[in-house]
Amino acid sequence: MGTFRYLFLITFALVFGSSHADPDLLQDICVANLSSGVTMNGFPCKNPSTIRADDFFFAGFAQPSIPNNTVGSLVTAANVEKIPGLNTLGVSMSRIDYAPGGVNPPHTHPRATEIVFVLEGELEVGFLTTSNKLISKVIKKGEIFVFPKGLVHFQKNIGWTPAAVVTAFNSQFPGTQSIAATLFAASPTILNDVLSKAFQINNSEVEKIKLKLKPKK
Ligand SMILES: *[C@@H]1O[C@H](CO)[C@@H](O)[C@H](O)[C@H]1NC(C)=O
Ligand SMILES: *[C@@H]1O[C@H](CO)[C@@H](O)[C@H](O)[C@H]1NC(C)=O
Ligand SMILES: *[C@@H]1O[C@H](CO)[C@@H](O)[C@H](O)[C@H]1NC(C)=O
Repeated sequence: MGTFRYLFLITFALVFGSSHADPDLLQDICVANLSSGVTMNGFPCKNPSTIRADDFFFAGFAQPSIPNNTVGSLVTAANVEKIPGLNTLGVSMSRIDYAPGGVNPPHTHPRATEIVFVLEGELEVGFLTTSNKLISKVIKKGEIFVFPKGLVHFQKNIGWTPAAVVTAFNSQFPGTQSIAATLFAASPTILNDVLSKAFQINNSEVEKIKLKLKPKK
């Protein structure tokens, strides 16, 4: 019983003590003034007299987007940059559309846990723990999967038809680091020798990947 209570307290402390995401709000609303030019943690509030319902509205999920890139997936973000009313509220969403076989390549959100709901189709999804254990599953329409905060994860449409998901984050601006682009499309670029040793490949192979992932002008 003592052990049980101890475990319960530890779990409680972990869940409610250290796993909170964005800082809590200090007033009802603080609609972001995205053009203020003031740099701070989050955005300054705009003049309350200018607040409108549209500050809390976004219609960008209503239609599927057509993934027209080389990975076959397209993310439509609904974060504080699109919905200024989310400022200080600690939540946001995104919609992801996938072509048949499309992949949302391995990436992390440094500031948020993500929960995914499948709108359409069937996907292989997974994340990696810090001990490199792959936790993966096939999920289909109506099902949910969770990617814990900061861990590398991915999704692949394994069906013959387009797929789509809606995701939610416990941050107004979760941030995304896509592993391949972060390493091979950085600006300024990372030394070839760093990447060649990390991936155990030679310089010309590093150059080849850098060229493929170079941001299109
Ligand atoms: C946003 O910030 C700018 C710069 O401080 C200011 O001029 C502008 O009036 C602000 N807009 C609103 C709606 O508060
Ligand atoms: C992909 O589609 C988006 C709009 O859905 C468009 O802005 C973009 O230019 C397209 N990119 C390519 C490479 O066709
Ligand atoms: C780099 O590695 C590739 C693939 O193993 C090989 O074909 C190529 O000859 C290598 N290039 C150099 C300069 O060593």
